[in-house]
Amino acid sequence: MSVGPRTLSIMSEAQQILDPLTRAARFLVVTIDDGGESSVRELLADLSGLRRSVGFRVPGADLSCVTGIGSAAWDRLFAGPRPAELHEFPGFAGPRHQAPTTPGDLLFHIKAEAQDACFELAMAIGERLRGAATIVDETVGFRYFEQRDLLGFVDGTENPEGAFAASTALIGAEDAAFAGGSYVVVQKYLHDLEAWNALPVSEQERVIGRSKLGDYEMSDAEKPLNSHVAVNTLIDPDGTQRQILRANMPFGSVRESEFGTYYIAYAATPSVTERMLERMFLGSDEAAYDRILDFSTPITGTLFFTPPAGFLDDLPDPPTAPAVPEPAPASSGDGSLGIGTLK
Ligand code: HEM
Repeated sequence: MSVGPRTLSIMSEAQQILDPLTRAARFLVVTIDDGGESSVRELLADLSGLRRSVGFRVPGADLSCVTGIGSAAWDRLFAGPRPAELHEFPGFAGPRHQAPTTPGDLLFHIKAEAQDACFELAMAIGERLRGAATIVDETVGFRYFEQRDLLGFVDGTENPEGAFAASTALIGAEDAAFAGGSYVVVQKYLHDLEAWNALPVSEQERVIGRSKLGDYEMSDAEKPLNSHVAVNTLIDPDGTQRQILRANMPFGSVRESEFGTYYIAYAATPSVTERMLERMFLGSDEAAYDRILDFSTPITGTLFFTPPAGFLDDLPDPPTAPAVPEPAPASSGDGSLGIGTLK
């Protein structure tokens, strides 16, 4: 495949990564079955049409679907250049807390103001993937009051905005063939709400680094170094703060006593997210680990690349099948080459 004919404007058009948080979301993580590649390619090419079909019937729902592709899947689906920093999620094993790596070839981050729209699109995707891929995780996210997580804190306040959000989340000239793309990390965290709710609110605030009701950030003097906000304030040696664009959603099941946060963060380079995770799990000079982890445990972890929208509408060629090696001529023992029929 050659990237050549695509126009720069199409290549640099991002998927709907920068849109504001919605009331509802559905996250599908999928592995591609052996031989399922061509059906998956057909689905990817049809996704924007499927989204329009569902979304147009639910006015005001703002239905969108951001699609990510994992590192191993990329080579199974496409010939040609790869996004420069696409790799498997490395996982982080700290002395106290671990972030596992779990399988995932495709991510569908479906968002809307209405759950029915998310569900309908997920159903359409599932239908197209039947027999070609396996859905390994499906999480239904919802808005909880004023964008709170199930720990009760407002989540997303310090996300970058406007042009800063775009430069934080989207690839630019540094990887021109994939400009408008983004790297996304997802992790499904389960909270120990019993232990959390046993903490006085003032102590919970010291775990997060912000006030619970009003969501005000603590001053540097009062904010503990192992608080979530302090650990995730990432400053480069030149003093620049590095950011990511988070779209976390609560999820849960009362029956299962499962209360969680679906962590999902977009960045122009996965290295920023990974440095944050390193600080959270492996620690830093300032803190042994992020104290939020005493109450929140990740059970999944996967990295995907979300290509620019135009890439999905005009997919590169599939990889050429690996050449089947010629069988070595077998000696028949009678001195001939033992060739039977020639087809
Ligand atoms: C259990 C999962 C998580 C929960 C419940 C959670 C919750 C929160 C909350 C309540 C805030 C403060 C308000 C805000 O600015 O959004 C926050 C900030 C933040 N979180 Fe998380 N978070 C989680 C996981 C993560 C992970 C895994 C990362 C990075 C790899 C991360 C990165 C950040 C960053 C960068 C900020 C903003 C820091 C600042 O500049 O003030 N979070 N998170």
